[in-house]
Amino acid sequence: MKLRTAAIAAGVASLPAFAAQAAELNLICSADVVICEKLVSEFGNSHPDISVNMVRMSSGETYARVRAEARNPQTDLWWGGTGDPHLQAAAEELTAVYESPMLPELHDWAVKQAEISGNRTVGVYSGALGWGYNTQIFESKGLKEPACWSDLLDPGLKGEIQIADPNSSGTAYTTLATLVQLMGEDEAFEYLKQLNANVAQYTKSGSAPVKSAARGEAGLGIVFLHDAVSQSVEGFPIKPMTPCEGTGYEVGSMSIIEGAPNPDEAKIFYDWVLTADVQNLMPEAGSFQLPSNKAAVASEHVPDLGEIKLIDYDFAEYGGAERRRELLARWDAEVGGRATE
Ligand code: G6P
Repeated sequence: MKLRTAAIAAGVASLPAFAAQAAELNLICSADVVICEKLVSEFGNSHPDISVNMVRMSSGETYARVRAEARNPQTDLWWGGTGDPHLQAAAEELTAVYESPMLPELHDWAVKQAEISGNRTVGVYSGALGWGYNTQIFESKGLKEPACWSDLLDPGLKGEIQIADPNSSGTAYTTLATLVQLMGEDEAFEYLKQLNANVAQYTKSGSAPVKSAARGEAGLGIVFLHDAVSQSVEGFPIKPMTPCEGTGYEVGSMSIIEGAPNPDEAKIFYDWVLTADVQNLMPEAGSFQLPSNKAAVASEHVPDLGEIKLIDYDFAEYGGAERRRELLARWDAEVGGRATE
């Protein structure tokens, strides 16, 4: 009897300490803040025992943060954002090896991210690069529909274009890598220097340019097509376009951080967010990427990648850490610009 009392007393005594160590997950989300918040709230409903601390950061910024934290990681999981910086982090072993039981449910393009990286990252969605232009601004200024990359050099577009800074934004890095693959490196930098004459602003976040165009603060934003679609679905006068010469695409990815303080919680979220049921929630948050789970139902607003002239984007090369450094150093030296938002 005495023993039992002691056990109960010990149990009671340990309760406050146990409660203080409630399960946590530190998440960096690199997609649009609306889908980030939706995922956190849905996860909270299904896993009330795990509290999620989420911050939204662009893909390149997150990569820089993960590198800076390498000796003392504070982040557990990085969800979303373009796949290149996830691969770069994987190559530097900043992200952890995890072979999710969900892998067999995913499309090949999503599994390929895992294969290239030795299971240090995985694809969560995909989407093609393009732009959205404000039809009212173009009409009122008598500008012709911008159908090709070459059309964006029209001097009539001076001050009308926004694009993000490729140092912070995965969208803009995808643009840079796409142009290099489409045109050749020297020609791509020549193009970007000419485009610079029409660029009013280099933003920090990838989707900000088309949001500005939706509000009439710019004529055109170079973004992922699905980000332009979100604005037109919301009722803004934005027309989504993909360039006639061809375009690149992203495999938005997810990675667990090497040495994460909460690896078990990270794996729980990881497996949960790869399910078809969770990916089916994305359109409710205005996120129209192609989901990576084969059983997820793509919304009618998801652009059909089969109808877009896509380049054979070389993720292994442009997801390489050295290639990234080279291209960004050249962009800083020859194109420049300061991120503002
Ligand atoms: C938007 C897109 C995502 C993309 C992300 C990259 O949120 O909807 O598909 O992965 O931008 O963000 P970043 O700010 O790094 O360009």
